[in-house]
Amino acid sequence: MNDRKPVEELMREEAGAELAGLYDLLRRANRAYYADSDPLMSDAEYDALKHRVRAIEARFSDLKAPHSPTEEIGAPPASGFAKVAHEVPMLSLEDVFDDESVHEFDRSVRKFLGLGADRPLAYTAEPKIDGLSLTLIYEEGRLARAATRGDGRVGEDVTANAMTIREIPHRLKPIDGHVPDLLEVRGECYMTHGDFFALNERQKERGQKLFANPRNAAAGSLRQLDPAITAERNLRFFAYAWGAHSEPVAETQHEALQRFRAHGFRVNILSDLCHGADEMIARFHAIEEERPDLDYDIDGVVFKIDSIALQHRLGYRSTTPRWAIARKFSPVEAWTWLRKIDIQVGRTGALSPVARLKPVNIGGVVVANATLHNEDYIAGRDSEGRPIRDGRDIREGDWVKVYRAGDVIPKVADVDITKRGPRSTPYRFPGHCPVCGALAVREPGSSVRRCTGGLSCPAQAIERLVHFVSRPAFDIVGLGERQIEQFYVLSWIGEPADIFTLQERDSRGSKARLAFEEALSRITGTDPAEARLRMARAVGLEGYDPTEVPARFESLSRTPLAQQYGWGETSARNLFAAIAARRVIRLDRMIFALGIRHVGQVAARLLARHFHSWETFFETVTRAGPEGGPEWDDLIAIDGIGPVMAEALVLAFRQPRERALIDRLVAELREITPLEAPAPVDSPVAGKTIVFTGTLERMTRAEAKARAEALGAKVSGSVSAKTDLVVAGPGAGAKRRKAEELGVRIVDEGEWLELIGGL
Ligand code: IVH
Repeated sequence: MNDRKPVEELMREEAGAELAGLYDLLRRANRAYYADSDPLMSDAEYDALKHRVRAIEARFSDLKAPHSPTEEIGAPPASGFAKVAHEVPMLSLEDVFDDESVHEFDRSVRKFLGLGADRPLAYTAEPKIDGLSLTLIYEEGRLARAATRGDGRVGEDVTANAMTIREIPHRLKPIDGHVPDLLEVRGECYMTHGDFFALNERQKERGQKLFANPRNAAAGSLRQLDPAITAERNLRFFAYAWGAHSEPVAETQHEALQRFRAHGFRVNILSDLCHGADEMIARFHAIEEERPDLDYDIDGVVFKIDSIALQHRLGYRSTTPRWAIARKFSPVEAWTWLRKIDIQVGRTGALSPVARLKPVNIGGVVVANATLHNEDYIAGRDSEGRPIRDGRDIREGDWVKVYRAGDVIPKVADVDITKRGPRSTPYRFPGHCPVCGALAVREPGSSVRRCTGGLSCPAQAIERLVHFVSRPAFDIVGLGERQIEQFYVLSWIGEPADIFTLQERDSRGSKARLAFEEALSRITGTDPAEARLRMARAVGLEGYDPTEVPARFESLSRTPLAQQYGWGETSARNLFAAIAARRVIRLDRMIFALGIRHVGQVAARLLARHFHSWETFFETVTRAGPEGGPEWDDLIAIDGIGPVMAEALVLAFRQPRERALIDRLVAELREITPLEAPAPVDSPVAGKTIVFTGTLERMTRAEAKARAEALGAKVSGSVSAKTDLVVAGPGAGAKRRKAEELGVRIVDEGEWLELIGGL
């Protein structure tokens, strides 16, 4: 039996219930937006909602409704206007939010058409006007009917209203004395900023409802039962597409735009031709720069394959053309509600506050979490106690501004305290670790509060394991953060040594698989909600918080790896092979992997180089103490190892729990190999200690150092009696003088290069 199933079933039920609710909400939102011009929610919220629905539909495709509201374009027409069936449906565009997706679009189009990357392919770039689409039917050159998009198939007849819009010609200007029998011109009806503000002023004076933005104002103005009202609103229109037609409009999109202009329409002047993805992206950013200076709203750039013949070949998906795409602008900030402040615990025990937000779309990414940095930041002061945000603190339930720039973690940047309720209270930063309950303390001069629970704290244990398997440490391929969490919550792995016994336990059966049964109860015991969430995440059910997970999970932990979520026979075999390969590990990686505070990769290398073997390193560190003695002196005599780091090392090896953990790990390893490849005998710098100072002109400092080390030299940062050679470039000061004093040999970069045999 596969234990995955019940959990899946459970998830499906939850997802089904959630989806039904979200469908309802989405349908109401569609109707409010399209039919009533009175949105229920912000665009960002709407996007987030749609995103969530799509995510569930993608995960449980059988739950997807045949008429999912995500596929509705707009909502059914409101009553009060006559219905117009569109002869050619009015579709929407696929939205993308980053440059890479523009490349992807270009690639997919080429792939579809069988066009190589080097073949020329033209696209038009047109600003995406943020108004409402309108279709205008001209019969024998006269405006016969105007209609809104409605649901894409049936719209509302707004002919009388459209007739009042100055920028909509009642008659097509003939081109070369000719007008087509039938031409349906499509485009965007919009309102300028100036007209929008003026309208809201008038509304205010008359005590009438204000419009939220120019688009809503345009929609509300066009969909007026009294055309006289539309007339006074000064709506405008840009033409950019067409529907039914009695004769071909043009061979290319850009030519069509020119013809529209010749027929008397306004066409957006920022529209342009691009050749390939790079030009499209450049054009996008150029238009983005123009955006603040425009007197109307645009929310992106639409790219269309220029050739109409190719457009035909590409055709349509259910609601969007394959030949066009909308690259939307990325807002970098958004306002949303801060629902809750959670505390995450890192590898070194640092308590990091995380804002749990009402999901908000920021530049195409739905942001639900953001960092709050630390205790002081929440309280509205910096590390020196000076006020930040004018001293405004951040509280649960606050209306907050969230920033997202590039790939960095989103952060809560500001708070609007006017939206705070009367019962709001300042956030109290916990004095205990929220995961394991141990005391959390702040060191003097630091804004960081740390859990003192060490490895008995599950949060720290997971973070340390993740560090242990990371690329610069044990580099176990196939074992990343996600898998570590999975194994941890399955109670299979609690410490590094467990990784090496995993395969054996897996093959011995369910009981043996559990490395430390109490781990689960420990996590659930401390914070059930958090533990369940972690479990759900670890077994691939992100976003759910099912109450039954612990029980399901209990049986899941008895299921072999190859049958776990996200695993199969091959991946399990590969993982075990990758683990086995690391029973032989280089000393510096081993030291770094232990995750001791202040001991980074560089320090680990210095230590490995100095001690050569694990045994000497281990003996020295276990015997040394900050109170002094030969071992301590030996440690801090290493160039680059200071007392802070030495103390961290010594303390780590002194803690019985930490020691036991290291001993268990070492017992699982076959060999800890020395760092240094034996120095080449013919290298004149082998075994020498070298200091680089001043400016190097022919290579970077990093390259020089790497070269020297490759030739068996030791590179040091400071000059002492042990220094054999100082390579001094222009600008060398104190180190050079010290070398002179000590009588250490000094060479310039040229001599150095000669010594090592050139570049
Ligand atoms: S082309 C089949 N071009 O964006 C594609 N649409 O999400 C027809 N829009 O409904 C649309 N500027 O309301 C096109 N230059 C432009 C546009 C544009 C704004 C709007 C339009 C459309 C929506 C698609």
